[in-house]
Amino acid sequence: MIGLAFGIDIGGSGVKGAPVDVATGQFAAPRVRIPTPKPATPRAVAATVGQVIDSFGDDVKDLPLGITVPSVVVGGVTRTAANIDPQWIDAPAEQIMVDQVGHPVTLLNDADAAGLAEIYYGAAKGQSGLVIVTTLGTGIGSALIYDGVLVPNCELGHLEIDGVIAEKRAAASARENEELSWGAYIQRLQAYYSRVEYLFNPDLIVVGGGISRNSDKFLPYLDLRTRIVPAKLRNKAGIVGVARHAYQASGAELPPQTEVDEMDESTD
Ligand code: BGC
Repeated sequence: MIGLAFGIDIGGSGVKGAPVDVATGQFAAPRVRIPTPKPATPRAVAATVGQVIDSFGDDVKDLPLGITVPSVVVGGVTRTAANIDPQWIDAPAEQIMVDQVGHPVTLLNDADAAGLAEIYYGAAKGQSGLVIVTTLGTGIGSALIYDGVLVPNCELGHLEIDGVIAEKRAAASARENEELSWGAYIQRLQAYYSRVEYLFNPDLIVVGGGISRNSDKFLPYLDLRTRIVPAKLRNKAGIVGVARHAYQASGAELPPQTEVDEMDESTD
């Protein structure tokens, strides 16, 4: 099927997948979500990835396949496991996925995939220079994109601020777990984004993750020189970005991009 690729997003609570129309960045069929197995070892998760794909029938089996993981990915090997099972550290994750599905797989860090989606179809479309996309969720994911080219695995959620790993204080999960008021949480975000701005001087910062739905509660109150905007694709971004990346990696010619009026953001 020309112009389609399949994206899968592996998260702490769900493994989500959908075919994606790479011309529009929209799902070509409703997303399927299966709970992440416990323990979430690479092989157990690979079996769940197989189930997500199977649920779409034979039609999607030949599509270029991209999969995101919340881990640094170097040469198909997952190097870290900040918020996932420790067995992912140094696991040949891409090969494990290939063994499961029987054809090539493109594996990417989840935030890198989200960053690509925002560049191609979302809030950073057409932006030149340095774009930093951050996802505020269980941890903080980050993508560094310069003139449309991804510099993978930048891990800005692990910057140390006052001796503490930034995501421990400023991820969306910190606000929930510590029952912080918006005011208290904004102070933490201010410290985090000020540091990111000071170190990288980006042209644009995009804030994604489920919390970007409530961006009016915190973004207008951040005092930065850099323009900072909410993500457009939100929880779809990982699936869409990695599907597009897999499509390109397959060598297929990209169809011309088609504008859509509004992103359908009804996910999760
Ligand atoms: C991980 C990143 C990941 C982010 C979002 C962090 O804890 O280190 O690799 O992108 O969480 O899932």
